[in-house]
Amino acid sequence: MTIQIITIDGPSGSGKGTLAAKLADHYQYHLLDSGALYRLLGLSLQNKALIDALDDEPVLKQSVTIAANLDIQFKNSASGTIVLLDNQDVTQAIRTERVGELASKVAAIPALRAALVDRQHAFAQPPGLVADGRDMATSIFPQAQAKIYLTASAESRAERRVKQLQGMGLDVKISDILSNIQARDNRDMERAVAPLKPAEDAYIIDSSELNIDEVFKLMTDYVDAQLDK
Ligand code: C5P
Repeated sequence: MTIQIITIDGPSGSGKGTLAAKLADHYQYHLLDSGALYRLLGLSLQNKALIDALDDEPVLKQSVTIAANLDIQFKNSASGTIVLLDNQDVTQAIRTERVGELASKVAAIPALRAALVDRQHAFAQPPGLVADGRDMATSIFPQAQAKIYLTASAESRAERRVKQLQGMGLDVKISDILSNIQARDNRDMERAVAPLKPAEDAYIIDSSELNIDEVFKLMTDYVDAQLDK
């Protein structure tokens, strides 16, 4: 049986996470939040005080082993997915800006990216998978039947992120969030390995002026046409 794969790549704050979850629910497919893997690795390396020493060869080697053996679980609950790292609930902790920065830092290191590849492939189970990330179509699942690249202006992404963080009870300034987003975009787009960019055959959607339902409709129209082929 062919496993159907839908990839959604794009910069942070484009609405990828929400839409990937909605698509997975709609098609009853599995969901891979690959950003969460990089966030978990960043957090784990910080907890072990290794994150600032990755230039050091033995530390990098140790970190690759940690990456390949990360003890993580994604559990479905009524309020969404609960994420456990070493049996500790880190669902909220991995969503902070600080951990986003750590994720982007580890994601720029080829050996650490390579150590997470098998784990990502393992999410592809029947009947299908929605894979959310930066390099899902260009690197991890180039065979995907449907490839979506979801983007939005940095300003509209910063506004959405502020609302999301405020909803979590955090006190944040839009100017800080905007500069974080721009710095992270630059790092993600300019890294040598698996940089953020649309696949050649990706369907590109700019969500700056669209609400979630409008984006969802564009996505399902496209995916339905791709899966029928
Ligand atoms: O999507 P999210 O904001 O959770 O991703 C956190 C960081 O992980 C990104 O800024 C990016 O550096 C990295 N990442 C990546 N490749 C992926 C998913 C995330 O490099 N497939």
